[in-house]
Amino acid sequence: MRETGSSGGFGGSGIRPRDSSDPGGPGAYFGHRGAAVRVLPNAHGHEIAVIGMGYVGIPTAATLAHLGHRVTCADSDPDKIALLTGGRVPIVEAGLEDLVREGQAAGRLRFVVGATAAVADAEFVFLCVPTPQGDDGSADLSYVEAVATEIAPHLRPDTIIVNKSTVPVGSTLVVERVLGRRDVTVVSNPEFLREGTAVSDSLHPERIVVGADDQAAAAKVGELFAGTHAALLITDAATAETIKYASNAFLATKLSFVNAVAGLCEAVGADVRDVILGLGYDKRIGFEFLRPGPGWGGSCLPKDTAALVHIAEEAGYDFSFLRGAIATNEEQFTRVVDKVKQAVARATATSVELAAPTGGNLAGTVIAVWGLTFKAGTDDLRNSPAVEIVKRLVAEGATVQAFDPTVAVPDGEFSSRVAELSHADTVGGVASLDDSVRAFPDAYTACEGATAVVVLTEWDEFRWLDFSQVLKCLVTPVVVDARNLLDPAQMRRFGFDYTGIGRR
Ligand code: UGA
Repeated sequence: MRETGSSGGFGGSGIRPRDSSDPGGPGAYFGHRGAAVRVLPNAHGHEIAVIGMGYVGIPTAATLAHLGHRVTCADSDPDKIALLTGGRVPIVEAGLEDLVREGQAAGRLRFVVGATAAVADAEFVFLCVPTPQGDDGSADLSYVEAVATEIAPHLRPDTIIVNKSTVPVGSTLVVERVLGRRDVTVVSNPEFLREGTAVSDSLHPERIVVGADDQAAAAKVGELFAGTHAALLITDAATAETIKYASNAFLATKLSFVNAVAGLCEAVGADVRDVILGLGYDKRIGFEFLRPGPGWGGSCLPKDTAALVHIAEEAGYDFSFLRGAIATNEEQFTRVVDKVKQAVARATATSVELAAPTGGNLAGTVIAVWGLTFKAGTDDLRNSPAVEIVKRLVAEGATVQAFDPTVAVPDGEFSSRVAELSHADTVGGVASLDDSVRAFPDAYTACEGATAVVVLTEWDEFRWLDFSQVLKCLVTPVVVDARNLLDPAQMRRFGFDYTGIGRR
């Protein structure tokens, strides 16, 4: 994490300006098509509109207000706008409510219903609307196009449209066409925020990428973020759009790699945690993003990798390497379920079966699950590996008793979230999870009468449970720890049959 600081501009680390005449002060790197132009910090705030109040829009708007700009935020959902106007945020995101309230108290952050109401005075309009995944894996641009159509007649001349939504390469041109305004410029400014740490990522970005044919417009967008200590990279639009997809594809590939190495460790009797240490000390590899787990998920990595495969295909390039990373991820879900089946078989087997293991059968079993969100620190269930694994457990005949700190309270709320799960893509012909997944108010009661407990999200609180009580709740002392969150030696001392990922 970077230190906070308000002085300076860009280029404090990372990419340096290319122009040899540059003395080395704050500056920007312009991609190979651009001239090197000094970017200086803002003296004055600008009028900005941010359209779409979701995981990206809210932190972006609150950060821009924090940096001194006057920001009008719009969403089509009046309930969301009422909540935000009252200083509350509709998502679990550490520090976000405080940042929103800071902006409101300073008079620099306000919320309105509908994009049109926000854009009339704006010099910059940030598009932060969803780009859901289409049936063929492509990103669906319809929200972006709808907003562009809606705001086009209301923009003042010389407005710069900043596209932050993750869109297929070439979409900046599509937005330009939909707007149909020669006096308005569109630039691409991909976001690199992680859910759960979006505020910190937004206030202390490592890089700002701006892509446009009009390099002066791109530089103006870069200037909006003066006050952060990020490297600024200015490119053409297609390159900026590609950087976004390539970043997420790289991260996904890294995770599939480490999950595959974990599988290898199990096969050869090595310990993946030490293997990662041995890898990470090599600075070219590093320690980040190398925790093996139940597979990667969330609203971004699965969608963006599928979209990139599709984009490549359309362009005539077979990105088989990335397809391999996606396939490895699918295998990881199955591998976790297999671990549960094997552990349950061990715990319930007769001596004859122990001599000739069957691989396990979950029909009629009750399995406790700790964690449903796609990672800790968020309440987001979209494309959660935990949900994928729950679906597979249910498809194998198990009933799942789940606890998640952000999902399980109160009962009524959980019911609707379970409905949300069953509406997500189904696996193994499971049409509805409502009857097969039940919510519990805490980690202990979720284990009552269960044959095994499976750790699927790395919530820290699971490490500090009273495991002697967990033992009493379970029918058989089986733990499958798909996040390597617990200490195997300690769990075995308690008497658990412990299975982790890539370690004994
Ligand atoms: C991801 C990227 O990390 C952000 O840089 C990007 O801006 C964002 O997508 C986006 O495109 O908007 P996010 O979806 O919040 O962020 O999730 P990650 O923190 O990347 O985690 C993705 C998945 O990988 C989760 O299921 C997580 O549990 C898993 N993971 C992550 C691991 O299994 N091991 C790790 O070491 C790290």
